[in-house]
Amino acid sequence: MSSRSIEPEICIVADLAAVWDEGARRFAAAAQAAVAARGRFAVALSGGSTPEGLYRELATRHRASGADQSSDAPRVPWQQTHIFFGDERYVPHDDSESNFRMAREALLDHVPIPAEQVHAMPTDAADPDVAAQKYEATLATVFTQCSVPGNQYSEPGSPFPCFDLILLGMGPDGHTASLFPGTDAVHEQHRWVLAPWVDKFQTFRLTLTPPVINQGRQVLFLVSGASKAQTLRDVLEGARDPSRLPSQIVRPAEGQLIWLIDRDAAHRLGNRK
Ligand code: 6PG
Repeated sequence: MSSRSIEPEICIVADLAAVWDEGARRFAAAAQAAVAARGRFAVALSGGSTPEGLYRELATRHRASGADQSSDAPRVPWQQTHIFFGDERYVPHDDSESNFRMAREALLDHVPIPAEQVHAMPTDAADPDVAAQKYEATLATVFTQCSVPGNQYSEPGSPFPCFDLILLGMGPDGHTASLFPGTDAVHEQHRWVLAPWVDKFQTFRLTLTPPVINQGRQVLFLVSGASKAQTLRDVLEGARDPSRLPSQIVRPAEGQLIWLIDRDAAHRLGNRK
């Protein structure tokens, strides 16, 4: 687990629409920087309604940019973008609960990403851990043997894939991705993808593990609403206890950690107004 981490950036904006607006700007900026530096943009999408709104905003901006070539808003280089998922519900991809279906309807059907560059988490294996291992194999292939030192898609010497951007939400219980309170997945230090049983929902999930998330060049939490204010204060200003507040396990070793939150979610924070 990362010993050193840079202080997180706390970005407080007016409301949910502003979270989506600022999130879309940062997404495009991260994409352009990644393509300029490495020729591609590898991003892990999050499930949840807060990230979903960002995806819809990105699709809207793409449509608008097509109509208005003069727009100077940063554009996303979709042709060089590789889409992954930070977690998935263990249901078919056409299920209403599927994060892949949500992202497809909100974004992927509306932007020109080559189909082979969309890497959904597989949910068709009888054994969810087999699916987790299949996704690990996908990551290893697409990130071209991450263990190869100096690989341009991962930090030299790191055994973990290095995403350019990882989007995360936070639940009212402090979970993020599918790292839920009291589960072993929160403390995983070797696997890249796990398939935890989540008692709260009586279902399996697939999730990237903390070491993969903490290898991200940029990790962006999107949090909105008064219902999360106390949990957010506990996560950001309370005692460190990732078993109880899994979002605290996210501490990128070298990358940037940004909390993009609206005023309602931020209103219990101490010295950050
Ligand atoms: C999921 C997400 C989950 C989500 C949070 C926040 O699959 O549900 O990965 O971690 O991001 O629960 O969701 P909201 O933004 O809808 O509150």
